[in-house]
Amino acid sequence: MSASLDDLPLRDDLRGQIPYGAPQASLPVTLNVNENTHPVPEEVADDILDAIAQALRDINRYPDREFTGLREGFADYLGHGLEPEQIWAANGSNEVLHHLLQAFAGPGRTAFGFSPTYSMYPLLTGATGATYVSGTRGEDFTLSAADAAEQVERAQPDVVFLCSPNNPTGTPLSLDVVEAVYEASQGIVIVDEAYQEFAPHDEPSALTLLHGRERLVVSRTMSKAFAFAGARVGYLAADPAVIDALRLVRLPYHLSALTQAAATAALRHAPTMLGMVDDIVAQRDRISATLSALGYSPYESWSNFVLFGGVDDPATTWQGLYDRGILVRDVGLPHTLRVSAGSEEESTAFLEALASL
Ligand SMILES: Cc1ncc(COP(=O)(O)O)c(C=O)c1O
Repeated sequence: MSASLDDLPLRDDLRGQIPYGAPQASLPVTLNVNENTHPVPEEVADDILDAIAQALRDINRYPDREFTGLREGFADYLGHGLEPEQIWAANGSNEVLHHLLQAFAGPGRTAFGFSPTYSMYPLLTGATGATYVSGTRGEDFTLSAADAAEQVERAQPDVVFLCSPNNPTGTPLSLDVVEAVYEASQGIVIVDEAYQEFAPHDEPSALTLLHGRERLVVSRTMSKAFAFAGARVGYLAADPAVIDALRLVRLPYHLSALTQAAATAALRHAPTMLGMVDDIVAQRDRISATLSALGYSPYESWSNFVLFGGVDDPATTWQGLYDRGILVRDVGLPHTLRVSAGSEEESTAFLEALASL
């Protein structure tokens, strides 16, 4: 017989908490965790495999603790005059965020996000012993610079999360909000650009604001646009002093040689790896337009998913889609569901199944 959590000397602040757990069901069409549903292109996969095979020959040695080649790759990819010493990487941007919270949050401190937003922010914050404080958004989930700054000024958190575009709503965030929140706070301001590559190409990234703002951090991931979710690679750009702070909390050799080799090789093929982005954006916009035609209310999205309202009973609709082999996400916002933009076939399957319900 196995013990229960109550039998263990667990930290008091972890008692009663529920772990992250988006369902992982093997259905024909899985559109629930905003993955890129397109596999890595064949010609890139071969090069990545060669790089992994080469790294394997030295796998008896610890990897480069400073992941030098990978940081150079990210600095090149991001542009904006960034240098490798301004780059950090870890096993998914979740771990990047965890490192930031370990260094800048922790017991007795607070982190702040504007609800509804990425569901891991409170969990990651709590795991470091810090307290998570929720701010609010407008009715359509937008944030104005004045309102956001006022909320942050009042809360004075040690860490602020600005998710741009926001998950789970897809809402764009304009740079004047980032500037205003930075001015209103004394803490670290994290702009989480996990979905930035799906935004209109001429829209500036918060990377343009980094110069002269040593408390500003822009976090990114290879999990979405780069179709690399299974490899677990996230990264950030910030002042070199922030990177020094993260070295204090990371585990030694946290990025395996195989991960470094795979990600560095993938970055050499960035344009090919990102080749499906425009297709995904086209499917996202088709999903939104068709949802409107079906009488639902999709929210504006700059990401690779669509949150739509007008769902009478999300649990029943979710189950109806599930029974038709399609997995979407009930994020717990009343009368809404969220669907990731898939391939043309997957998106069609979702739309037809929904129309048939
Ligand atoms: C806003 C946001 N940030 C970060 C992540 C974490 O991504 P990963 O750990 O795969 O890099 C996600 C994943 O869905 C996300 O939606």
